[in-house]
Amino acid sequence: MDVFNVISKRQSYRGTFTDAMVSREDLIKIVQAGLDAPSGCNAQSTSFVIVDKPTLIASIAKLLGDRVVCKTAKAMIVCVCDKKPVYGKLSFYIEDCAAAVENMLIAIAALGYSTVWLDGVIRGDVGVEIGKLLNIPAELEVRVLLPIGVAQTQTAKPAKKSFDERARFA
Ligand SMILES: Cc1cc2nc3c(=O)[nH]c(=O)nc-3n(C[C@H](O)[C@H](O)[C@H](O)COP(=O)(O)O)c2cc1C
Repeated sequence: MDVFNVISKRQSYRGTFTDAMVSREDLIKIVQAGLDAPSGCNAQSTSFVIVDKPTLIASIAKLLGDRVVCKTAKAMIVCVCDKKPVYGKLSFYIEDCAAAVENMLIAIAALGYSTVWLDGVIRGDVGVEIGKLLNIPAELEVRVLLPIGVAQTQTAKPAKKSFDERARFA
């Protein structure tokens, strides 16, 4: 599929995943897309923990209240931020992580899988607990989690504002 088609067809998925597995080959392709993202000062401050062991997925899903998209996920990618300043006092870890996540969302959609960008729901204690479970050093922040699988039923794509409402030529 053409990249513009993938971008316009991508949508968040919060439903049940089918039993179809996500191969390690595909997980590596997806994370490579994250690694290929730009980052401030090329600091590459985001790292990734790929989870495909069913017992670990179940433990993480439990921390997330057993929501169906996590409980039935066949893999998860946990995005971890190094918040260190990289340009004087400035750090770009949020932007770095967001760029990597968007690349991965596009790669996930291109490979025929679905996901949702989980951020708000892992802020604070849940992120800390996920970090402990995955042996992530305490000074790093678990910021985004992507549950991945094949969608059982796709919901309608949420409406986006029109081009003219959000963009203009100067
Ligand atoms: C920074 C950020 C944080 C998000 N956090 C969550 C979240 O915690 N839980 C969730 O269900 N969706 C989360 N989302 C997904 C958005 O709700 C979703 O992208 C938005 O509703 C638009 O839908 P779409 O992705 O289908 O275009 C987040 C998205 C972004 C960019």
